[in-house]
Amino acid sequence: MGEDFSDFGRVCQEYCEAMSKLSLNIMELLGMSLGIERSHFRDFYKDNDSIMRLNYYPPCQKPDLTLGTGPHCDPTSLTILHQDNVGGLEVYVNDKWHSIAPCSEAFVVNIGDTFMALSNGLYKSCLHRAVVNNQTPRKSLAFFLSPNMDKVVTPPKALVSNDRRIYRDFTWSSFLEFTQKHYRADTKTLDAFSNWLKKEDQI
Ligand code: OGA
Ligand code: NI
Repeated sequence: MGEDFSDFGRVCQEYCEAMSKLSLNIMELLGMSLGIERSHFRDFYKDNDSIMRLNYYPPCQKPDLTLGTGPHCDPTSLTILHQDNVGGLEVYVNDKWHSIAPCSEAFVVNIGDTFMALSNGLYKSCLHRAVVNNQTPRKSLAFFLSPNMDKVVTPPKALVSNDRRIYRDFTWSSFLEFTQKHYRADTKTLDAFSNWLKKEDQI
C-alpha cells in the first residue's frame, strides 16, 4: 500500500495471514464432515489467492429504497466476515430474509460458489445481502478464501457417485474473470458461468 500506509498494510497482511490459517482449519473440518481425507481441502487451498475487502456503508436518508449490497452468493470458496456493531447483514433462508445480529467476539462464516462446486453441490453457497440505515455508518471486513488462480476446481472422487457432476471443472482465474468482467454475482452465477464456458468452447 506504499510507504504512507505501511502500518495499515502491515495490519492487513497480518489479518489476512490469520484468516488464511483459520480458513484452512475450517476446510479441514468441512472435509471431515464429508468423510474425505482430512488434508484434502487443506492441500487444495495451500497457495490460496484469497481476497480481503473492506466494506463501508454510509447512512442513507431513505434506507427502505436501497440496499448496501444487493442479494448475491459469494463466488469465492469461504467467507469469513467481521461486522461492526451496527448490523445490516441478512441471509435468505426458507423464503425469508433473516438479520444476522453482530457479535463482537464472533465471525460470520459462509460457503461460496466455488466450494459448492468443489463439494459437488453437497455444501450450498448462501444468498445474502446488506441493508443500510438512516443513522449510523456501518463497516465490515470480509476475507474471501479462494483457490490458487491456476488450481482446477474438481470435486474429490469420493463425492462423485455414478459420474454425477453438478459443475464442470474450472479454474478460479476464469471464474474470477467472469464475475469481474461479465456478470454481477447473484444466485445464478455458477450456472451463468457454465453457459459462458460452453460458449467459449465453441469459439
Ligand atoms: C460481501 C458481503 C456483507 C456485509 O462483501 O460479499 O456480502 O455485511 N458483505 O458487508
Ligand atoms: Ni457477500
